[in-house]
Amino acid sequence: MSKIIILSGAGVSAESGISTFRESGGLWDNYDVNIVCNHDSLDKNESLTLKFYDKRRDDLKDKVPNNTHIIIKELKQKYPNDISVITQNVDNLFEKAGMNDDEVIHLHGFMTQVRCREDQCARIYNIEYESIKDCNNGICDDCGSKLRPNIVFFGEMAPMYEKLNEELTDCEMFIVIGTSGNVIGVNTLANFVDYSILNNLEPSDAIEESLFSKVLYKKSSIAINEIAEDIEEFLNSSS
Ligand code: APR
Ligand code: ZN
Repeated sequence: MSKIIILSGAGVSAESGISTFRESGGLWDNYDVNIVCNHDSLDKNESLTLKFYDKRRDDLKDKVPNNTHIIIKELKQKYPNDISVITQNVDNLFEKAGMNDDEVIHLHGFMTQVRCREDQCARIYNIEYESIKDCNNGICDDCGSKLRPNIVFFGEMAPMYEKLNEELTDCEMFIVIGTSGNVIGVNTLANFVDYSILNNLEPSDAIEESLFSKVLYKKSSIAINEIAEDIEEFLNSSS
């Protein structure tokens, strides 16, 4: 369990050219979330849903990490046991910044993976930026079931939330960057921890900023430098 949790959302990838979800012009302005990201999407709109994720996966190919990913990577590698990097994002920018699979917790899945739909099998395939059909024609090699994006859809279980709760037990500093708080209740988490920082572009209806010790409304690629200083000071004073 780590002293510091850095929880990120789509805002940390915005400056790398990956669309956020709820800002104007965001992903959910252009696609109906109930059609392509719901627990019944694969039953009701299989082809549209698979094409939606194939396009988002392909879009990832040319995206590069920004200063936020790089500074967080450097902090994690300098303080591996004191910092947990937890993200709602399904992109691979932390990994492109040089972080290993075991250094980032993806709460909502991972875009460059597909998995067998059969829960008993659930074999995962790393397909990078390919279309799902290009992986064994969209069929699981082990059991013959269809494959699906390894992404948590609305209304589905998010097994990694348990990991977030575990990480919170020893957390003394909770940092929220680039999330509107519409899916993960950051207010409760901020209330639970002694010291918390919120960094977004603007206030969010879903976040009670008075619960945070420090609030930074500016681009994360700039705010992260101040946040890194706070982390260094915190860890040096508590060591
Ligand atoms: N720097 C800092 N914050 C930013 C930046 C930036 N450059 N650009 C945008 N933001 C902030 C916005 O102020 C907003 O609060 O990022 C947040 C994006 O909010 P959402 O679009 O709601 O994205 P997120 O909170 O990550 O969504 C959570 O919802 O659709 C599901 O599974 C999906 O993981 C996603 C979850
Ligand atoms: Zn299978």
